[in-house]
Amino acid sequence: MEAFSYRDGQLFAEGVALSALAQRFGTPTYVYSRAHIEAQYRAYADALDGMPHLVCFAVKANSNLGVLNVLARLGAGFDIVSRGELERVLAAGGQPDRIVFSGVGKTRDDMRRALEVGVHCFNVESTDELERLQQVAAELDVKAPVSLRVNPDVDAGTHPYISTGLKENKFGIAIADAEAVYARAAELPNLQVVGVDCHIGSQLTSLPPFLDALDRLLGLIDRLAARGIHIRHLDLGGGLGVRYRDEQPPLAGDYIQAVRQRIEGRGLALVFEPGRSIVANAGVLLTRVEYLKHTAHKDFAIVDAAMNDLIRPALYQAWMNVVAVQPREGEGRRYDIVGPICETGDFLAKDRTLELAEGDLLAVCSAGAYGFVMSSNYNTRGRAAEVLVDGDEAFEVRRRESVQELYAGESLLPR
Ligand code: LLP
Repeated sequence: MEAFSYRDGQLFAEGVALSALAQRFGTPTYVYSRAHIEAQYRAYADALDGMPHLVCFAVKANSNLGVLNVLARLGAGFDIVSRGELERVLAAGGQPDRIVFSGVGKTRDDMRRALEVGVHCFNVESTDELERLQQVAAELDVKAPVSLRVNPDVDAGTHPYISTGLKENKFGIAIADAEAVYARAAELPNLQVVGVDCHIGSQLTSLPPFLDALDRLLGLIDRLAARGIHIRHLDLGGGLGVRYRDEQPPLAGDYIQAVRQRIEGRGLALVFEPGRSIVANAGVLLTRVEYLKHTAHKDFAIVDAAMNDLIRPALYQAWMNVVAVQPREGEGRRYDIVGPICETGDFLAKDRTLELAEGDLLAVCSAGAYGFVMSSNYNTRGRAAEVLVDGDEAFEVRRRESVQELYAGESLLPR
């Protein structure tokens, strides 16, 4: 479903004009559509209907409590990578036994808290982590449910910074070593082997890498069964891409259909960890043009959002669509859309033809995933507000940070 559409020459989020939101909450502001988040989640859940499964939203993509709460109400699970994300999920009403805990650097404190609340599974990424988890679980006198995150060595064909399933990446346990590590896990008294996990990368736009990884994991599951280690669930991670420009990523339903066909009759439960595909196109970053600057070489639209608010263009050269909230008639000019930060890398978009005037509102599209969560306070800029739209209503789910908050934890020297 399209969360954002034009009506009478104005861009709306569901039933609310973005211009009204800018007036009420100021800019820059992230605006999310509840209906879009729900529809994307349901595409996964519906396709998995009739078999044991968990759809664990990858909290790193968008960790706003309001957003997490929308998903928790639908019965979603959550994929977390830190104690902080764990506490957010609990605060948002998520159920601990639907949480999978990923990440290469879990601390003892992370493990202890996750065991106390009773997460569904730890996705363990190394032998040392396995031994540490055994120790922490023994101290608490509990059994920790574990999957090993296996690195299947497939090329996800995506940006190198977000490709994670190749043997040169830091993630997971090489598939060639996995059997030995599973054998060790099965020996450890405070661990219970429950699953196999992989995550090969993000923003994948075709199915073959996913299915290639799946086939390799199924081979592993068979070899483990031959050793008497029985796997209950298969976690295929996240990674399904979205359309930013003209990509044609597979639909969640088609992906899951293909997976279901291949695992038929095995009695495996399925776990997915989608992030981007649930929230990316549920959000825009709303920003206002402060200045138009015309130089001999280029035209710049200097807006009030910057790389500290949305770092994807600067960090990954990501192309994100930028549209006018109330488009004007006219030929337009080719603008670089840049922020106020003192870095040449501070751009949101380059070479976009738009007809603009000072004070105009722009929406940076597909900003619901890896947008606000990657924002910083660089240049002592407070982080943006976040607003969740539900039909004709809008709720401020995070207020804008004030300047005082930015240095509240700092102090002067005593002398
Ligand atoms: N599971 C694990 C273990 C992950 O590392 C990730 C993402 C996901 C699930 C969710 O993947 P998704 O469905 O969102 O593709 N900041 C980058 C993306 C980094 C993704 C990191 N891991 C970006 O803005 O493109």
